[in-house]
Amino acid sequence: MLSDNITRAPDGSLCFAGQSVPVLAKKHGTPLYLMDEERIRANCRMYLDAFRKAFGDRALPLYAGKAASFKQMYRIMASMGMGVEAVSMGEIYTALSAGYPAETVYFHGDGKTEADIRFAMEVGVGCVIVDNEHELELVSAEAAARGLRQKVLLRITPGIDPHTYEAVNTGTVDVKFGVPLETGQAFRFVQQALALPALDVAGLHCHVGSMVFDEDVFERTIDIMVGFMACLYRTLGFVTRELDVGGGYGVRYTEEDKQADIPARIAAVATHLKRLCTEAELPLPFFLMEPGRSIVADAGMTVYTVSTIKHIPGFKRYAIVDGGMGDNPRYCLYGSKYTVLHADREADETAVFDLAGRCCESGDILQPAVALPADTCPGDHIAVCTTGAYNYSMASNYNRLGRPPVVMLRDGGAFTAVLRESVEDICALDL
Ligand code: LLP
Repeated sequence: MLSDNITRAPDGSLCFAGQSVPVLAKKHGTPLYLMDEERIRANCRMYLDAFRKAFGDRALPLYAGKAASFKQMYRIMASMGMGVEAVSMGEIYTALSAGYPAETVYFHGDGKTEADIRFAMEVGVGCVIVDNEHELELVSAEAAARGLRQKVLLRITPGIDPHTYEAVNTGTVDVKFGVPLETGQAFRFVQQALALPALDVAGLHCHVGSMVFDEDVFERTIDIMVGFMACLYRTLGFVTRELDVGGGYGVRYTEEDKQADIPARIAAVATHLKRLCTEAELPLPFFLMEPGRSIVADAGMTVYTVSTIKHIPGFKRYAIVDGGMGDNPRYCLYGSKYTVLHADREADETAVFDLAGRCCESGDILQPAVALPADTCPGDHIAVCTTGAYNYSMASNYNRLGRPPVVMLRDGGAFTAVLRESVEDICALDL
């Protein structure tokens, strides 16, 4: 199986985190997001242990809430001792509503509004990651008005191509995030920040992309960032106390995908960073990373019920389900691959189906050309694996379909973390 939390019972039915998927589907209805809480915790532990081994207490992984943001997730992050990064007032509000402490929230975003900045400082977020020169002025003015010194990191674009797909490449010179090194703008950005007394410039941030598998991406990033740190030290006397290299480790969506050995990669990154800092005679900065997908992706599964089978002889077979691009837009947006399994049974005789959603557009495909039992029929349950990241968080109400609930699986039990959206919920804001 793709991941060891996905198994089959002796009768061939699918289990997730040791629990029967058809039973959960009947109890909670479909479409349904399932999340394996123990897997989320294990993934956090993997980062925390690797960070501790490599850096002692001089490092912290920040969970990138954009991957899946709802209260239970932040309760888990708080109890595990993870930091959190947030990109909007909504993500910060959700984290704090769940009792997550504001001091370890790092606030991101390339288009923060004045209202966002005001809110972040009102609630006391630990650090604002400033994206651009204009934002420096906004954060500085708000901090000065409040009579405080706001800790900030400055987002730099290191010019690294992480070899991932374009929509999630965030490190090259012409992306919309951060301030590029190549053009000399990053140096002026730091100078400008250091001249603002209401800002405590703790260090630098960068993020090169998502679904990173190439082994040396973070090492190449660190080469560039430490080079810049050394230049800032030599010319401005500025010491980088914190270095945040963003998120990005990839996960396996299909059996063909590679498995990133994250602890080994972190150990290698630490060795590299320490060596470069020693050579440049720089103190080792406090080290941060911002994993999202690799914390939650394999903790998720989406379960659907087949509504209709449509066979167009000589062309195609569709299995049309009761969800679709509203709960998972990733195939439509990025052509993302997924592993699709029949949740009720296995079969010797399979046929190839396009797994289609119920939205009114032909592009509403969850996954093309998947092998399912040839006798798959209405009422059957279908599971799409590895949907824990960027599914719930990117879901929409297109066609006024309610978003599915999130049911957490823990210690052999299940509880609802996010309720199913009803038609009344969808209409709640209409006047
Ligand atoms: N930090 C920053 C600044 C980011 O922009 C991102 C992701 C992360 C951390 C977390 O990266 P991760 O570890 O999850 O790769 N919607 C797309 C992914 C967009 C990623 C955006 N930024 C998808 O569904 O694949």
